[in-house]
Amino acid sequence: MKRNILKKWMSCLLAVSTLFALTACGSSNAVSQTPSPSQSQKTTAPESSEAADTADTTTSQPGETVQPTTDESGGVTLVVYYSATGNTESVANAIAAATGGDLFELEPAEPYTDADLNWTDDNSRVSVEHNNSDDRVVELTASTVDNWDSYDTVYIGYPIWWGIAAWPVDTFVKANDFTGKTVIPFCTAASSGLGESGELLEELAGSGEWLEGQRFRSGASESDVTDWINGPQINQ
Ligand SMILES: Cc1cc2nc3c(=O)[nH]c(=O)nc-3n(C[C@H](O)[C@H](O)[C@H](O)COP(=O)(O)O)c2cc1C
Repeated sequence: MKRNILKKWMSCLLAVSTLFALTACGSSNAVSQTPSPSQSQKTTAPESSEAADTADTTTSQPGETVQPTTDESGGVTLVVYYSATGNTESVANAIAAATGGDLFELEPAEPYTDADLNWTDDNSRVSVEHNNSDDRVVELTASTVDNWDSYDTVYIGYPIWWGIAAWPVDTFVKANDFTGKTVIPFCTAASSGLGESGELLEELAGSGEWLEGQRFRSGASESDVTDWINGPQINQ
């Protein structure tokens, strides 16, 4: 009788320990198959455009990759220009159309009036500024561009004033870091060439890979511009 009771106890103990071993084994499999929340966040790319869109408005955590924001066309070309009377603006528009680039107009905080631009008047604003380089510091309404880092090619356009780039452009060039960018100056002028205007801007910038650039006549046509954009200087 005692032996039977002992046998029953032994088989009961065996059954309980087998059940315990099986349960422990099952739970260890579950751990290895299901990633923890932190693992899945590290390896999964944002799935919706909504997630990507919010990337630039959220604060990034150390080690987290924030998607660079691109412009609507996804382009990487920017056409920056200053134009007092519209000639350089026409060329800038044609460059933007031909390259799919974005436009950024430089606007002096105090715009130049016709009287200001009268270079035949020794007392006009441009004449005074021309005669004293300290007076050529022109404040702009904006001198930095959204998503600047996403552009790899920057065209910079200006009218020629007394043989050099119209100085409102200087403010933009000094305010930005062109490292890693190809910079292509262009100008419009009544009769002068590009001269040293591009080199002088390159010196002011102190960074960027500056190409020689191009001069257009004041009334340049769209085909003048597209011929240049499709030519060897731009596509070397
Ligand atoms: C103050 C001033 C200085 C200028 N100096 C020159 C010059 O040295 N050489 C030249 O060929 N044209 C000169 N021009 C003419 C302009 O460069 C030309 O009309 C240009 O296309 C104007 O461009 P915008 O319409 O974009 O301002 C000058 C114009 C102004 C207002």
